[in-house]
Amino acid sequence: DVIDVRALGANGIFTYDPGFMSTGSCESAITYIDGDAGILLHRGYPIAQLAEHSDYLETCYLLLYGELPDKKQKEEFDAMVGKHTMVNQSMHKFIDGFRNDAHPMAIMCGLVGALSAFYQDDMDINNPKHREIAAFRLISKMPTLASICYKYSKDQPVMYPRNDLSYAENFLYMMFATPCEDYVVNPVFAKAMDRIFVLHADHEQNASTSTVRLAGSSGANPFACIAAGIATLWGPAHGGANEAVLTMLEEIGDVENIDEFITKAKDKNDPFRLMGFGHRVYKNFDPRAKVMRETCDQVLEELGMSNDPLLKIAKRLEQIALEDPYFVERKLYPNVDFYSGIIMKAIGIPTSMFTVIFAMSRTIGWISHWNEMISSPYKIGRPRQLYVGKPERDYPTDK
Ligand code: ACO
Repeated sequence: DVIDVRALGANGIFTYDPGFMSTGSCESAITYIDGDAGILLHRGYPIAQLAEHSDYLETCYLLLYGELPDKKQKEEFDAMVGKHTMVNQSMHKFIDGFRNDAHPMAIMCGLVGALSAFYQDDMDINNPKHREIAAFRLISKMPTLASICYKYSKDQPVMYPRNDLSYAENFLYMMFATPCEDYVVNPVFAKAMDRIFVLHADHEQNASTSTVRLAGSSGANPFACIAAGIATLWGPAHGGANEAVLTMLEEIGDVENIDEFITKAKDKNDPFRLMGFGHRVYKNFDPRAKVMRETCDQVLEELGMSNDPLLKIAKRLEQIALEDPYFVERKLYPNVDFYSGIIMKAIGIPTSMFTVIFAMSRTIGWISHWNEMISSPYKIGRPRQLYVGKPERDYPTDK
């Protein structure tokens, strides 16, 4: 049920809803979620069908333009993305200014915001062509920037993008190829990577997407808005969860220690939470987690890692959470991040890059929401607050 409270403000009344538990901030035709039923649709298409039949760039096209592309449109779209994969050479000077051990998300926040400085002539947000070119630039350059961050942390030379490869293959190539070694992309890994991208592409008004819309509502340029989204995604309650899942599995270390961590998670006096469990919207199995779980099994089988100790801990945790009354009553199911971290670790991606990959995948969602907002009448986002401070008082002149 929707209660339209727009007229309240005119009477000096406002709704108070910390955490926006029951506040809709916009209309959107991009993504539909029914958290109780475990349904996620992009432009009407169920996420599991997209993960099976679509690739990431086709999903990007769908989110951005509203319909699936025909063959020619898809080829043109892929070619446009391929055309913009390079980043300006001056960006490397920025990267050199960071510490080698800087978290790659810290570098990404800076680099993506800095793209504004390179494209200032095409940033009239009221021009649909400028908005479209910004979308292409962002989708295309995110994997390049992400792999540059990784290579920098390893002190390895940067690999230039290969536009003959698919989006996922090119990303793995830029991450793992070196000038001295030929790198052949494993098709199972490329498929798994592509699925991770598709499953993270959009999720309506989560914290980072709402941040992008709020930043955009002031008329800020798209690169600055996406940088704001990246900063928000970094938090462990949001995109940082996949990194936190792996850290937690490593900390648990052995199946024998699981009970101790479950007890901590249930203790209200302990801030510890079981990472990768629970979701603000899904009070049922996250439909993305179901697909991710299958993909996880495929990758581990390909690598002959089905007996991996971390995976054993993960499977046992999953089982406990599905049976233990604490988790069952609170509807705390494993979320998408629970499995994506295990897949990426198996592929050889370091934990610190997990959230960067989430940011890469979510860029299309952010830019589609930003574009949708700017394309229709909108207001600057300006929530109210419930003031709980001191009442008006006189400045003490005798102090
Ligand atoms: N472990 C233990 N208990 C939990 C967990 C958890 N992971 N998540 C929620 N709970 C408990 C809470 O303590 C609370 O219990 P109570 O009713 O007895 O007080 C109840 O479940 C409801 O929790 P809330 O915090 O009110 O739920 P909310 O919707 O605000 O939070 C969130 C959702 C942030 C995702 C939370 O479940 C969490 O912190 N999970 C772990 C982090 C995580 O995996 N985040 C990824 C989200 S998915 C994504 O961003 C793609």
